[in-house]
Amino acid sequence: MDILALINKKKYGQELTREEINFIVEGYTSGSIPDYQMSAFLMAIYFQTMSISEILILTEAMINSGEIYDLSSISGFKVDKHSSGGVGDKVSLIYAPLVASFGLKVAKMSGRGLGQTGGTIDKLESIPGFKVEIPFSEFVKIINQTNLSIMSQTDNIVPADKKIYALRDVTATVDSLPLVAASVMCKKIATGSDGIILDVKCGNGAFMKTISEARKLAQIMVELGIKFNKKIAAEITNMSEPLGRTIGNAIEIYEVLQALKGTGPADLNYIVCESAALSLCQAGLFSDLATAVTACQAKMQTEEPLNYFRAFIKAQGGDLNFIDNDLPLKDILKVKNIIEIKATQAGYMEIIDTTELGLLAVRLGAGRATKNEEIDYHAGIYLNKKTGENVAVGDVVMTLYTNRYITEPVYKWAERTFKIVTVKPREQKLIYEIIQ
Ligand code: URA
Repeated sequence: MDILALINKKKYGQELTREEINFIVEGYTSGSIPDYQMSAFLMAIYFQTMSISEILILTEAMINSGEIYDLSSISGFKVDKHSSGGVGDKVSLIYAPLVASFGLKVAKMSGRGLGQTGGTIDKLESIPGFKVEIPFSEFVKIINQTNLSIMSQTDNIVPADKKIYALRDVTATVDSLPLVAASVMCKKIATGSDGIILDVKCGNGAFMKTISEARKLAQIMVELGIKFNKKIAAEITNMSEPLGRTIGNAIEIYEVLQALKGTGPADLNYIVCESAALSLCQAGLFSDLATAVTACQAKMQTEEPLNYFRAFIKAQGGDLNFIDNDLPLKDILKVKNIIEIKATQAGYMEIIDTTELGLLAVRLGAGRATKNEEIDYHAGIYLNKKTGENVAVGDVVMTLYTNRYITEPVYKWAERTFKIVTVKPREQKLIYEIIQ
């Protein structure tokens, strides 16, 4: 088979066969197809998209590029949750200990930051000592001990996705519906959970900008999940502003701890409890969602979820001082430059470009602009004001933390992400719909 012919075939919008998709996935994973040809192929998919049967074959090819985990030695209902990618999206890190505290087993494999969005693995790695690369046997052992473990993709599980994911990040091919669907679902299927919750982000900070695009992605992923005999639900959630007030890595862990200590932001708590409640219903612990949500909210008022988080961090080698010391942000973030962006007029804050906010965090060092770039775990953004909040002239609306040398254009960049309006913006729904 000839890779050039296959790039051309997709370029002209034709449907690829199973053999052709397998050839490309195997070739790229093994290294016989180079980055530049795979980049062209991904861009062709971006413009021409894929049929549902091509997406299914792509998902299977990525699953078959590595091992499939057998979680049968873990008793109980195994759950997993995945986000299609958001800015300031730390939901999984609170959801996991919350459902673990109800006795569910969280077996989660997560990714790194992609495009403007942060990655759970990068956030966890900002905890000194925390190990994200653990062998499968340890993953199982930790779940059996603490009810939850989160690991990064190893080379032997969906290696095709690991490679393609990193390439998409630096070739502007992230926000492609078939590529997101296959990338998310291959990981969910290969890690062998019984129940899957998908958080499909929608809005100006998400890869899917409109509800109809997000719905299409959610429906495809739910269809893929059902084909693989999984209990699956997808929520379409609002990403027209970041969740909570923090964007970055260590700064987001700080907010996770606040949430687990009962002082987290309301938008974050709401999505966490809804997502956890969906898992509790899938596991059969509750028969209606509203009762499950109430139970989750009550549980968040106890110390249990924090204790599960603590045990999980300890089991994966993380420094518990980070959790126990209750340090203020200024002592957690070791950065040379702290820049305050101030309001030049009075009114209400309105965040207008969450993707640019995410990319600004990348520019500050919190994400990668090239494939092998090192992350600065301490870089990030704190939103002193969120949409709808009152702003007076001179108020700090956001604070940038970075070790990089920051010049004038970065201030301008920050200023382009929001405006101060005279009429209070209408409150938006946080969850648009649930598809299952
Ligand atoms: N998360 C993934 O795992 N893959 C994507 O493509 C986007 C979000």
